[in-house]
Amino acid sequence: MLPVPLLDLRPQYHALRDELHARVLAVMESQQFILGPEVAAFEASARDYCRAGFAVGMSSGTDAQIAVLMAMGVGPGDAVLTTPFTFFATAGCMWRMGARAVFCDIDEATFNLSPAAVERYLREQARRDPDGTLRTPQGERLRAIIPVHLFGLCADMAPLLRLGEEWGLAVIEDASQAIGAECPLAGGAVGSAGSMGEWGWYSFFPSKNLGAFGDAGLAVGRAGQDEALLRALRMHGMTTQYYHDLVGGNFRLDAIQAAVLAVKLPHLDAWSDARRANAARYRELFAAAGLAGQDDAPITLPAEPWAGAPGVRHHHIYHQYVVRAPRRDGLLAHLRAAEVGCAVYYPLPLHLQKCFAAWGGQAGDFPASERAAGEVLALHIFPEITREQQERVVSVVADFCAGA
Ligand SMILES: Cc1ncc(COP(=O)(O)O)c(C=O)c1O
Repeated sequence: MLPVPLLDLRPQYHALRDELHARVLAVMESQQFILGPEVAAFEASARDYCRAGFAVGMSSGTDAQIAVLMAMGVGPGDAVLTTPFTFFATAGCMWRMGARAVFCDIDEATFNLSPAAVERYLREQARRDPDGTLRTPQGERLRAIIPVHLFGLCADMAPLLRLGEEWGLAVIEDASQAIGAECPLAGGAVGSAGSMGEWGWYSFFPSKNLGAFGDAGLAVGRAGQDEALLRALRMHGMTTQYYHDLVGGNFRLDAIQAAVLAVKLPHLDAWSDARRANAARYRELFAAAGLAGQDDAPITLPAEPWAGAPGVRHHHIYHQYVVRAPRRDGLLAHLRAAEVGCAVYYPLPLHLQKCFAAWGGQAGDFPASERAAGEVLALHIFPEITREQQERVVSVVADFCAGA
């Protein structure tokens, strides 16, 4: 039986092995492991790739978000609007800062934060103090909107940026899953995930499209944001050695991870192209099998709202290839029994997580997110998968649908 792993990082490693070994060995020879020239060089190329004002290497995507929130001074008494259908860290970081995540529902087709839901919240729930401070009905100060570019597809940034401007809220992007993804902006401009708002962050967890050999991340800022502050926060808030005017953390990217990322970054565009080509092949194969494309089809393939937009190459970078299946759990069991790799990202929206019970989320609060949690299924999509493997995935799905 042809194996179909959800993810196999070995082909990528083998293709770059000599270069990776040489670069990592050079770090070992230098014995400079923390920050230093490798980190600075990677920051410069990542800044250019992400089209950001500046980039600061961080120890993980989570730490990058914490550092950004610290730089913004987000803390107790503050609230930030975001999606409940995302990886835990997006809201976990809010909790850790003593602030509250105020959830708004997702767009049914893209799984991303719905600008209409954000606008509804702002118009119907938010209120302004006489001095102009924007507050939640519970009295917290509203500070920002956090879109998450889930699965490698940019959220609908043009209206979100417009809302940020209209309501005086910072737009800060969780681009952990979407480095290099693009979308159209107002006036015919093209934005790159993470650098459209005031701040953004990325994760280089090994399974990400740009993956380190351990935990790593990056925070970026628009020109004009306080880069020196972010760099100080990464080093316990230290500006002069052992003098601390503020409290930060140990959020540093290490040189070995920077070396690995520097070798991989030049290949990222080609990998994203390959992921998109694989997605196009799935579309062809599922349509040919009669499983997708019609109104009554048993599965819904990923939406591609930015495909064909002028100047947009990476309209989706397919970090995950996520289909929607109303009978998802049966399909999941069927694929697993056939040893076809698949996974559910994410089975429980964040407003229903036990640890956030104090925020008062209830079942039914965010119906589109709750439906998505019950219907999503990620299939294998990494750059090196073969047509034969994709045919097998489609035929196992077809089997399940035929037996239904
Ligand atoms: C959407 C999102 N946000 C934040 C993170 C956190 O990144 P890290 O695992 O590098 O801390 C991830 C990583 O899985 C993520 O997917």
